[in-house]
Amino acid sequence: MTAIETTATADIGVVGLAVMGSNLARNLASHGHAVAVYNRTFARTESMMADHGDEGNFVPSEDIKDFVASLKAPRVAIIMVQAGRGTDAVIDQLADLMDEGDIIVDCGNANFHDTIRREKDIRARGLHFVGTGVSGGEEGALNGPSIMPGGTPESYARLGPMFESISAQVDGEPCCMHVGSDGAGHYVKMVHNGIEYADMQLIGEAYDLLRRGLGAEPAEIAEIFAEWNKGRLDSYLIEITAEVLRQKDAETGKALVDVILDRAAQKGTGTWTAQNGLELGVPLTGITEAVFARALSSSVAQREGSGTLDGHVKDLQVEDRQAFIDDVENALYASKIVAYSQGFQQIEAAGEEYGWDIDLGNLARIWRGGCIIRAAFLNDIDEAYKKDPNLPLLMANEAFVDKINAAVPSWRRVVVMGVEAGIPLPAFSSSLAYFDGIRAERLPAALIQGQRDFFGAHTYKRVDKEGTFHTEWSGDRTETTMS
Ligand code: 6PG
Repeated sequence: MTAIETTATADIGVVGLAVMGSNLARNLASHGHAVAVYNRTFARTESMMADHGDEGNFVPSEDIKDFVASLKAPRVAIIMVQAGRGTDAVIDQLADLMDEGDIIVDCGNANFHDTIRREKDIRARGLHFVGTGVSGGEEGALNGPSIMPGGTPESYARLGPMFESISAQVDGEPCCMHVGSDGAGHYVKMVHNGIEYADMQLIGEAYDLLRRGLGAEPAEIAEIFAEWNKGRLDSYLIEITAEVLRQKDAETGKALVDVILDRAAQKGTGTWTAQNGLELGVPLTGITEAVFARALSSSVAQREGSGTLDGHVKDLQVEDRQAFIDDVENALYASKIVAYSQGFQQIEAAGEEYGWDIDLGNLARIWRGGCIIRAAFLNDIDEAYKKDPNLPLLMANEAFVDKINAAVPSWRRVVVMGVEAGIPLPAFSSSLAYFDGIRAERLPAALIQGQRDFFGAHTYKRVDKEGTFHTEWSGDRTETTMS
């Protein structure tokens, strides 16, 4: 703890002035908050001040001690550095300089397990630690992101109004809320990213089908996405898909999408979401298939070694252009709802596992603006949870059920066409399999239970009476009641 002789004038501070940090600082400053700024390399601070210093009240410091001393109590310092080890070092530096009740806010894409650990450590030192999900990329950070803070309600009381003032606003409401304690904010941001992966993969599959089915150029397909964006699929990702598909490469004159290497990269949040889905036992098929699809695209040696494999594919026969486009739209809509339904189920399960009481309807509301998965149908998700906060299966809610049921014939047609034509549709087809699995009256899991009991005496339950049973498979095959 310190006693530094500097006038504290800043309402909030930002450590780490790469694009995201500097944009967040600029957003805060342009909303009337006095913002202390600090970067390990002072040159970056200087260049930010030179370029944007006139946008608001900034308090730059060359030294982290001066930075902390420039913050009004209780101090609020946002960290916007690359997630990982660097974060721990900065947290430590700040915590050493701060006083009881001060607040450290991590706005990076941290793993929620790390956030839970850090919150505990920092709380033990008398400070608050707020893991905060921020979505919207560079543009969002500057002009209005969706903000998902975790941590204590006391820290939100100090921080929340500032965040609410800089977040995106939809229907006059800020896209920011206190999500829950410790790692809850980073957790929902992680799932947000998982849904983002699923959404992007599904859009990719729709594009692949349209391109091959219609034999159309990317610019023509852009118009289909632009049209879809006027309807129930209205969303940021559909909108930018049209933009990407329209783009021409200046060098070759070709569609840019045709000269971009087809290997999708990732920084890991989708993988974390899938791992956590497995840990919680939530069937997170849409998101997980999307993560695997990126991995497959980047499996260079395997793809190169696949040349001798014969797909026995049939030509895609599209007789009615518009009917085909409508089929793909239906399949995309239904599969997207599956991905959201699974993601929300995961957040609900996480609430039980990690002790959070996350309001799923309000979460859908703060994702309506600013973030990458912002979409018109988040209003329907909000409504569904408002009607039934304990909704077991989002996709079966009245907000969606008629639309999904109406989409099913198209969904099946599209998956069958893809299978016959050899077009990989992992997310479309696994979403349809999930749909069929979840609505099946009886699943072959009964057989799996029998097999488990056969080789491992793992026991099974019966449909017609209470208790646990085992069959003497290698003996006289009589059944024993175990409990
Ligand atoms: C956002 C984005 C942002 C980023 C992710 C995904 O919500 O603003 O999700 O956080 O784009 O890191 O990136 P990868 O595709 O590289 O995992």
